[in-house]
Amino acid sequence: MTWKVTPLQPLAARVEGIDLGQPLQPHEVRQIEALMDSHAVLVFPGQRLDQHQQIAFARQFGPLDLGLRRLKGGAHRFEYAELADISNVKVDGSIAGRDDPKIVGNVANQLWHSDSSFQRPRAKYSMLHAVVVPDFGGQTEFADLRLAWDTLPGWLRQRVQGRSAVHFALHSRFLLGDTGYTEAQKASIPAVQWPLVQTDPRSGRTVLFVGVHACEVPGMSLAEGRMLLADLLEHATQRAHVHTHEWSVGDLVMWDNTATVHRGRWYDFAQRRELRRATTEEVNVPERVT
Ligand code: OGA
Ligand code: MN
Repeated sequence: MTWKVTPLQPLAARVEGIDLGQPLQPHEVRQIEALMDSHAVLVFPGQRLDQHQQIAFARQFGPLDLGLRRLKGGAHRFEYAELADISNVKVDGSIAGRDDPKIVGNVANQLWHSDSSFQRPRAKYSMLHAVVVPDFGGQTEFADLRLAWDTLPGWLRQRVQGRSAVHFALHSRFLLGDTGYTEAQKASIPAVQWPLVQTDPRSGRTVLFVGVHACEVPGMSLAEGRMLLADLLEHATQRAHVHTHEWSVGDLVMWDNTATVHRGRWYDFAQRRELRRATTEEVNVPERVT
């Protein structure tokens, strides 16, 4: 059976006629990777994957990322540490209260980011599957970082060329007032650097790699670097460069974290929203900028 691929502007495509719960043929894996190279975000509606199927689907694209669970461990709702719990639900199945620490993570996901850009290796593909969605809000938006470079004015290209940014996991938490970490906790999550301008080894396209985890530009003052990063992210996330996904139960959305940033949108935390995410690690890690 051939798949039906419907491009969604300005990035993303909807892919129908495929059952992600079944093992893929090697040529089908390559076909999905090729679609990811062109569209950067793929929407697969009507999938109903259990945890095992979601993990098996993701593993076909590479080794899986643990994100911050690599460090934190602790109680988890899923059978796999590699499945991120993107929900406002506690381990006992009840909805987390608005002041529950878990909710800070939900709010932080509403800032534009690339998953795990604060670690090396960073995330390549994220695969997010909707189990329960709220009546209103809770969309996920995606912005194209290749388009961001293509449309970046020459004077800004010159400012970023050859520079890198420091990405730190707790920066988004600090922005939200979640500052109660000990020095030992902060030190256990070392920051990493990524070039601001990268060439995607698969598509050959140039990428402006920014996002909320980026908090410093080495060689610039903290203030000037942060303002530059804010300006770049504003450019990258202009409306014309954004695709908004309205979730239905059973959707699986796959995105390339090295070519896009994404953010969740507001929903009422008193309503249940349950998604789970499997994520691959990037295999060909870009060099540091020296
Ligand atoms: C994620 C994420 C946003 C959302 O799963 O990585 O950022 O809308 N999700 O839940
Ligand atoms: Mn995310």
